[in-house]
Amino acid sequence: AKKPAGVPQVRPRSVRRVGVVGAGLMASQLALVFAQQLRVPVVISDIDQERVDRGLSYIAEQNAKQVKKGRLTQDQADSLTGLVTGSTDKSVYADADFVIEAVFEEIGVKKQVFAELEEIVSPETILATNTSSLSVTEMAADLKHPERVIGFHFFNPVQVMPLVEIARTSQTAEEPIATAFDLAATLRKTPVLTKDTTAFVVNRLLLRLMAEVQKAFDHGTDARTADEALKPLGLPMSPFELLAMVGLPVAQHVTESLNNSYGDRFYVSPNVQSLIEHDVTEVWSTDESGAKH
Ligand code: CAA
Repeated sequence: AKKPAGVPQVRPRSVRRVGVVGAGLMASQLALVFAQQLRVPVVISDIDQERVDRGLSYIAEQNAKQVKKGRLTQDQADSLTGLVTGSTDKSVYADADFVIEAVFEEIGVKKQVFAELEEIVSPETILATNTSSLSVTEMAADLKHPERVIGFHFFNPVQVMPLVEIARTSQTAEEPIATAFDLAATLRKTPVLTKDTTAFVVNRLLLRLMAEVQKAFDHGTDARTADEALKPLGLPMSPFELLAMVGLPVAQHVTESLNNSYGDRFYVSPNVQSLIEHDVTEVWSTDESGAKH
């Protein structure tokens, strides 16, 4: 098949073992999708066993839903669930060919994760970040092998959102880029290659909408009214519904990064706490069936 423009012609790295750092929602979704599509062992980790167990339970539940939908047999679901294992110890990444971090959206935390990983993995292991808005270049800056670092940004929910942004830095080597494209194809995602600019392409646009709707809320617009007014314009999810799904603290962090890079057009609401407490997150949060609670 013809490769999209900008994809290096080098051979992608063969990925036989995947590491996902973190066990939160994005990390668990990533581990699930890697196991489902690559059928290779995937390891996840987090700072305590409770978080790891929550991630593993999410993966088991998602596979169980596929059984209920008649898409997997119980045996297939069990073997997929069994492909993902969890730990609180990063040494589990030692044999991974490709590790993607999906920890808290905070540059210091992410740099620390990469520094620790570099002590454990081989010099060729690709280190990817699922960051939405932080500098991939900065994340790689203090590493011995910054050329193996790449942005690989998925959208929530990973199982259904088709796009993945592959962000190269000025130092990223050809093999990680070719590998990311190859993985995206195996994961049945549509990859786009971007430069390492704050929030790449999609979130520059999406977060502008989210920021503006928070500004409207701060100016007195009722959240439900805004959602009901905007949804018929063709959005798959109305703005507050989307904010609730992404999580307001995460959205706030991403908007702050955008504000730092691009200025006031990315409005950071001083009222996020009141939004969290406002019934919007309850009224509009959805489960996977789309049912409102
Ligand atoms: N988790 C997992 N799977 C989910 C889900 C969830 N939260 N919500 C829906 N699904 C699945 C359903 O199980 C269903 O799967 P199957 O077709 O395999 O059975 C499929 O999605 C479609 O579900 P529905 O028909 O019930 O719902 P829908 O047609 O309304 O689609 C949606 C749901 C795809 C989530 C859609 O509402 C949508 O596209 N919303 C916008 C999502 C978005 O913008 N995400 C980006 C957020 S920003 C981000 O990711 C973080 C960041 O960078 C800051």
